[in-house]
Amino acid sequence: MKRIQIINGPNLNLLGRREPSIYGARGFEDYLDDLRRRYPDVQMDYFQSNSEGALIDKLHEVGFTVDGIVLNAGAYTHTSVALHDALRAIAAPAVEVHISNVHQREEFRHHSFISAACRGVICGFGLDSYRLAVEALLAE
Ligand code: DQA
Repeated sequence: MKRIQIINGPNLNLLGRREPSIYGARGFEDYLDDLRRRYPDVQMDYFQSNSEGALIDKLHEVGFTVDGIVLNAGAYTHTSVALHDALRAIAAPAVEVHISNVHQREEFRHHSFISAACRGVICGFGLDSYRLAVEALLAE
């Protein structure tokens, strides 16, 4: 059975309530139920934290055992050299995802510190960005 780790960063625990005009009205756990049902042969583990260090610890913990990582690092995408280094340090491929199309938004969201350390990037397809990332990892 393939194992995929989904990791959400800061403020993504508020999906469904946070700026629904940008991020939609659906909570992540609800979406995750559907995603798990869609891929019954994939073990999909989920972790969310608002803290940069906890995200790095999680990458270290799973980064040598899972088949792939789907990472929405939230705002740390645009600030964190430490996440870049953690992604480079591990063996599992990671796909960077964003719910919104960050390139249509404020300029400070246009740069990602983690893209260069990821297998690929998917952004702008709402929550479906996560499914597209899972598809990409399963196709590897
Ligand atoms: C986000 C985009 C980031 O710029 C923002 O800080 C987030 C969410 C997205 O999923 O669209 O927290 O990663």
